[in-house]
Amino acid sequence: MKKLLLSACFLWGSCLAAQTAAPGIPPYQNAALPVEQRVDDLLDRMTLEEKVLQLSQQTLGLNDNENNVNEAVGSIPAGIGSLIYYEEDPAARNAMQRRAMENSRLGIPVLFGYDVIHGFRTISPIPLAQACTWNTALVEQGCAVSAAEARRSGVDWTFSPMIDVARDGRWGRISEGYGEDPYATAAFAAAAVRGYQGNDLTAPDRVAACLKHFVGYGASEAGRDYVYTEISRQTLWDTYLPPYEAGVRAGAQTVMSSFNDISGTPGSCNAYTLTEVLKERWGFDGFVVSDWDAVAQIVAQGGAADRKEAARRAFNAGVDMDMTDRCYEHHLARLVREGKVSMDRVNDAVRRVLRVKFRLGLFDRPYTDNTPQAERLLLPESRAVAERLAEEAIVLLKNEHGLLPLATDGSRPDIAVMGPLLGADGELLGNWSAHGRTSEVYPLRKALEEEFAGKAELHFVEGCPFDGQDRSAFMAARKAAKRADVVLLLMGERRKWSGENCVRAAVELPAIQEALIAEVKKAGKPVVLVLANGRPLGLERVEPFCDAIVEMWQPGLPGGRPVAGVLSGRVNPSGKLSVTFPRSTGQIPIYYNRRKSARPTLGKYQDIPSTPLYGFGHGLSYTTFAYGDLRLSADSIGPEGKLTAEITVTNTGKRDGAEVVQWFVSDPFCRITRPERELKHFEKQMLRAGESRTFSFEISPMRDLSFVDDDGHRFLENGEFFVIVNGKKARFVVSDGPSPFEPLSH
Ligand code: NOJ
Repeated sequence: MKKLLLSACFLWGSCLAAQTAAPGIPPYQNAALPVEQRVDDLLDRMTLEEKVLQLSQQTLGLNDNENNVNEAVGSIPAGIGSLIYYEEDPAARNAMQRRAMENSRLGIPVLFGYDVIHGFRTISPIPLAQACTWNTALVEQGCAVSAAEARRSGVDWTFSPMIDVARDGRWGRISEGYGEDPYATAAFAAAAVRGYQGNDLTAPDRVAACLKHFVGYGASEAGRDYVYTEISRQTLWDTYLPPYEAGVRAGAQTVMSSFNDISGTPGSCNAYTLTEVLKERWGFDGFVVSDWDAVAQIVAQGGAADRKEAARRAFNAGVDMDMTDRCYEHHLARLVREGKVSMDRVNDAVRRVLRVKFRLGLFDRPYTDNTPQAERLLLPESRAVAERLAEEAIVLLKNEHGLLPLATDGSRPDIAVMGPLLGADGELLGNWSAHGRTSEVYPLRKALEEEFAGKAELHFVEGCPFDGQDRSAFMAARKAAKRADVVLLLMGERRKWSGENCVRAAVELPAIQEALIAEVKKAGKPVVLVLANGRPLGLERVEPFCDAIVEMWQPGLPGGRPVAGVLSGRVNPSGKLSVTFPRSTGQIPIYYNRRKSARPTLGKYQDIPSTPLYGFGHGLSYTTFAYGDLRLSADSIGPEGKLTAEITVTNTGKRDGAEVVQWFVSDPFCRITRPERELKHFEKQMLRAGESRTFSFEISPMRDLSFVDDDGHRFLENGEFFVIVNGKKARFVVSDGPSPFEPLSH
């Protein structure tokens, strides 16, 4: 009888999204009351066991993540806090939600999460590629598309953005993040949060974001996944924490604790990062979910003797929800009874989870409308955003003698097209492609045929496989190259070569692909290498054989269209690298903002140059840009002052093009040494042929010139600084602040 009454009350509340309290409706079901009041009321009514269930996450539905496939999808308690939801339609969600609303004592809705990393069904380029657009507004739009498709399909919460700064291309998860730079990653983190969450989480097209993997996962030793990371506190603050701080400031509702052991304390039981920094100093009021099985894995890491101890450590350190391993479900209540976990901490964690559920409006609208797929997935405007992202992500790495674009002079050249990407369009989806389908990827071959129809003769030949030893098609490839005017090689990586648990010992192309490049070059024709891959590659051995190199990354559903547009000249490339391309694996880790050397001219490799093959920010265009003088509004600035740096850029070529201007600062001398240069601002603008535009950077000393110590305390010192843009440098000083010799005081 009680149950019936409760569910009747709930239905009333949910149907009307009650604006006013009705007699008999408990406050937590009253949509008119403030969230915190509803949380308080609900918390007061919950038993310990009900609370523990709210802190637990299991799975529901198909599991297309290879790493997790064999996980049992057991019978789910009606009071479960959250489920990972693998379905594409809301039916299963609604059925499960009905169970939660009607069969649990208090009718607390389940929170459904999923890995919507670069699209739900409309798959955009991988995030590493998206960062090469340097277009935060566009990335935000891409995330909004993901959010709309996901929420309308039954997903309330995405496990994205992944904002782990990464500098080792062997680590397959470098593809999931925004590259090597803390500032750029922070900018894209905030954009992604805005795109996913918008201004109103209750909207039917927004989801809660999850900043992951907190923290330092990108520092995985030698690129191996799930392993130890050696991160000094200074590096933690300088490099790995800034994107998280930006994401929290942007309002991210959740954070995922990481798998990696951070210098002796695993990310999933690290009280310093999870509680002291994230919750106390940054005031994060959402909840922390562990990564998949990350609580239990503390045992494997040697941080706990058994799962119960792991639960205690993770929970007390600040992990609020336990993903899939059920350590909390099985042990938390007992730990409370034994006095090893406080009831205050339980209430804090449950409060955080409930708060996010209320903010999402789940109590008032627990079910997802059953919108037909055609009205919620693959909408033309969504595809258009993905296509623009893919176009702007393409980086023209090399273009000797203006070889590209092809076939512009009306001579109808003969182009021999070959390589493992031909007919392998599914590989263009990239890893973590949610509900993306190979059949919906725009085929590379079709795109090229359409693009060059009437402009060039295309001859498709096999070339070589992605890897292995099969050279049987080499002879035919060389013959085709001999007959052709240009050779177009479509090469790179399979989608499962990057992403989770996808580690490669070398970032070079597989030997067979390198061999085919050398083989066709023997024909003496210009060679264009087009690459689709999920990591920065080591191209030193093949670069000399290639007259042009186009990095298309893994573009998602737009498939071959964007790169075909670049090859034909319909699209003028504007992407710039978000990550350094080493010459070879031996240079890793290599990144632009390293600290200075004691002997800058010495200490180089004897066998190869020490410079990267393509540096951070590299990317060519079909037009040319001339940078004018770098102007500063003053040559000295006080700690509270403002100083504007400006530069005029002129499009000196014959066609319109977008230019990304990256502003760096350099502090030549500081009590805590600083990197050679640090990105502090970037801006992309479209310039018509012949047009000049002024780009500016307003320097705010505390924001742009300060530094942190190894406990995150921020300082600004007097002295000389430089602002650097496209190789131009201007000096200024900060005066009236503390001198570099004054002791650090907190
Ligand atoms: C493990 C991955 O590390 C994480 O990124 C992902 O969100 C979870 N599995 C859920 O699938």
